[in-house]
Amino acid sequence: MSQVLLIGNALVDWVNEVDHYPFEDEELRVLKHSRRVGGNAANTAQVLQQLGHECTWLGTLADDSESVWLKSTLQEQGIAMDYAPVLANTHTPHSTIILNQSNGSRTILHQRQLPELQTEHLNTLLLSEYDWFHLEGRNVEVLPEFLKIIQRSRIDQPISLEIEKNRQGLEVLMAEVDVVFMSGAYFKAKYLSQNPYAVLRELSTCYPKTIITITLGAEGALVVDAQGQIHYAPAQVVEVLDTVGAGDVFNAAMISALASGKTPQEALYFAVQLAQHKVQQYGLDNLIKRY
Ligand code: FRU
Repeated sequence: MSQVLLIGNALVDWVNEVDHYPFEDEELRVLKHSRRVGGNAANTAQVLQQLGHECTWLGTLADDSESVWLKSTLQEQGIAMDYAPVLANTHTPHSTIILNQSNGSRTILHQRQLPELQTEHLNTLLLSEYDWFHLEGRNVEVLPEFLKIIQRSRIDQPISLEIEKNRQGLEVLMAEVDVVFMSGAYFKAKYLSQNPYAVLRELSTCYPKTIITITLGAEGALVVDAQGQIHYAPAQVVEVLDTVGAGDVFNAAMISALASGKTPQEALYFAVQLAQHKVQQYGLDNLIKRY
């Protein structure tokens, strides 16, 4: 099993389950209110850990009580948190999530003032020890530097990059990594109504060595491999309960399968199945046990 370093967010999700999506100015009773670990990299780490990998999470932590809970909850799952800097006089980022029980949709109100990770925070890690590096496509001012540092320290370990939001300067980084996970939201924002096959063909001409996935929600997902072949994995119709973190589960399954020597096509099938399995349960607990 692989040692995976994940660089990105860990935060608190306050999940409010409701029986329908509220209309403006409505007063709506919450059916269940729960606190969960959130943040893409933290979610992906939790699933990778369940899949038997050893994860290290790196990102900034606040010095409040929520952060103590966050850290210990991730550590209890075996995720190494030792290198994450704790920043004085800061507050843990939160998401207030409206989870609509009738269709599993999640509406996220995200609040964050925590300063971002800086290059010096990577200095304390022995980067050559990891088998896989996964980075969230955020903190774009510093991300190219992170990539350079990792590239200098690695032998040939893969680097994956998640592109979830349309942030300037992300797409050129596709040339610097081995695998890109592009979210459906990013795809829609950037390419509007273009055909995803045509987009993948074009991207694979620009970045021929990079494996690129696009998730298409209930329609499944696509991958273009390093030979320029495009593969599609359909999703089945299932009862959707909770879509929070489904994309993070997809990414974890892709990393796990590719790191275990599966082909991009095989990895894609597994990732679609696992993400589909996730939307049928609340949260991420025991995801793999129930799979
Ligand atoms: C899900 C998620 C949530 C978090 C939000 C942050 O992918 O990581 O856990 O609240 O996205 O953007």
